[in-house]
Parts: sequence; C-alpha cells; structure tokens
Amino acid sequence: MPNPSLLNLLTGDLPQLAATVQHQRLNWRVADEAGVAVYLRRDDAIHAKLSGNKLYKLHGHLQAYFESAHSKQPIASFGGAYSNHLYALAAAGQILGIPTIAVIRGERPKGAAPTLDDLEAMGMRLHFISRERYKLRNDQALLMALNLELGEPCFWVPEGGAGLLGNTGCQVLGASCSEFLQRVTPNESDAYVVMACGTGTTFSGVVNGVGPSVQVLGVPVLKVGGEYKAEIAAAIGANTRWKLLEDGHCGGYAKFPEYLLKFMVETELEVGVQLDPVYTAKMLYSLATAIKQGKFARGSHIVAIHSGGLQGRRSVEKQLMELYV
Ligand SMILES: Cc1ncc(COP(=O)(O)O)c(C=O)c1O
Repeated sequence: MPNPSLLNLLTGDLPQLAATVQHQRLNWRVADEAGVAVYLRRDDAIHAKLSGNKLYKLHGHLQAYFESAHSKQPIASFGGAYSNHLYALAAAGQILGIPTIAVIRGERPKGAAPTLDDLEAMGMRLHFISRERYKLRNDQALLMALNLELGEPCFWVPEGGAGLLGNTGCQVLGASCSEFLQRVTPNESDAYVVMACGTGTTFSGVVNGVGPSVQVLGVPVLKVGGEYKAEIAAAIGANTRWKLLEDGHCGGYAKFPEYLLKFMVETELEVGVQLDPVYTAKMLYSLATAIKQGKFARGSHIVAIHSGGLQGRRSVEKQLMELYV
C-alpha cells in the first residue's frame, strides 16, 4: 500500500499542492543591483524524485490512467538516457504500484548511466529503440508495434508528459505563479515568470494559466527554429504576453560550456540552491543576462521556476567538483 501522502501528491488536488510551494526571494547581486526582485519558485523541493514541472505534467496523465478501463496496464513513455521525465514516471510507478516501461532513444550507453540504473532500481522496464524509429514516437503505428514487442498493450504517455493533459496540469503552475505575483505587486506591468523550455509543454501550459497581467519568458535549452515557435504558439492560443529568450541554449541541448558551469557553481554558492545544468542553470544564466541588459524596469517582480531535474547534475559532477575547489 503506497504511503498516503505520496499517493495524495500524485492523485490529489493539484492547485492545493501548487499553493504550498515556496517562493524564495533570492539574495542575488545581479538582481539587487538592478533593483528587481527575483523569487525562485521551489517546485524542485516538492519531492526528492517527483519534483519540478514533472508532477504538473504527469498529474493529468495519471488521472486518465486511473479512469481508463484498463488501469492494470503498464504505463509506457519515451525519453533519452538521462530523461528527467522517465525518472519521475518511474518514481510515480513505484509509489503507486503501477508497472512502468521506458522506451529509450538509441542504444544503452557503454559507460556509466546513472539515470538508467535508477530507473531499473525503481522497477521500470527499459526498451531501447533506434534513433530512426524513435523519431516516429508520436505515430500510432509505432505504439501498436511496440505493444506487440513489449508483449502487452500499454497506456502511452507522450515523451516528456506532453499533450493536452500535460498542458492542463501546467496551467495550474501558471495560475499559482500569478496568485503569488498578485500578492507581492499591485502593479500589473512589472510581473514576470521565467522558466526553462524543452518540449515547450510546461511553458505553453504556464502561459495559458497565468493571469493577463503577467508576462512569461521562456528559455529554450536547445537551438530552436520557426517550427518550434509555431507549435508553442498553437498550444497557447489567445494570450500574447509571452516571449522566448532564444539565445539561452549555451551551444545547444545538453551542451555545458565552461562559462555556464562556472556561472552555475557561483550562483549556487551565492543563493544557496542547487541547480541542474540542462535546464535551470541555463534559465538563470539567461535571466541574469537579461537583467544586466536592462530588460526589466527597476521594481520588477520576477518568479523564476526551479523546475527540478537535479538528478541530471550527475552528468557534470566531475566538472562541478573541479570548479567547486
Ligand atoms: C528540469 C526540467 N526543467 C524544464 C523542463 C522543460 O519542460 P518542457 O519539456 O515541458 O518544456 C524539463 C523537461 O521536462 C525538465 O526536466
């Protein structure tokens, strides 16, 4: 029987949970000098394994699973060998006693793969497919073929917990940021939310969930083009108070130039919060750059979402240790 508080985390009232998340006012020199208030929204602290944006994205998919007629099926989803999403799904499966399957892009890495080891330790079954096949992950035909290969029909969650259900959960996150900003600033023109974007599911949900007075800035952690922006715009609809800071990728997805890691270590020491190199370090780096460029008026209030992903620190652990000493 799962621990009732964990069960509640996964299946309980999402707005109520979102309202408990702390907004930590950062003592951050770059913000202080510019006269702006930055609040780090500590979604990373929700739960050791199921934290950040993952819970918001998974919540609706899990509800749909429980409402489905076949809720004894395994839940299967897609991701890379370091996926935070698969990590959270494996944790959810372990907590709820549901079998989970990861369909992983490419071959098993030859060297150490701590995330994959953790997935297996949490009871998740791993299934590797070629990169070519992986590109078809949103095609029904591939899901059918995988059901046969895996030996049972699965309940499929899109890569990263994307889709309408993921977007809807992230609207709750947006609404909660707005509620906080309304409490700290009466002035509608100076309220911002900043966050990292991968697939853009969390971002589009947040934009759909915030009130009309809040401007949302997304930092794609990969190089993006017109198609990416068009997909986000299509998922957003009417709200136009959003913008992507497109230069924040620091060379591309999972690229960690030394200046980024140095920034990450210095910021962690300064504000006393751990970051992850793939998402939140790039998000704060871009925010710091925008603040220094004078993009925010004095007196602005900025919520920066700490979307978790700390297990991903292990991919740069050695470089970080060298910078810390
Ligand atoms: C820690 C972290 N932050 C941000 C994101 C970006 O989320 P999305 O793919 O919804 O844009 C992800 C990916 O899920 C993530 O793992």
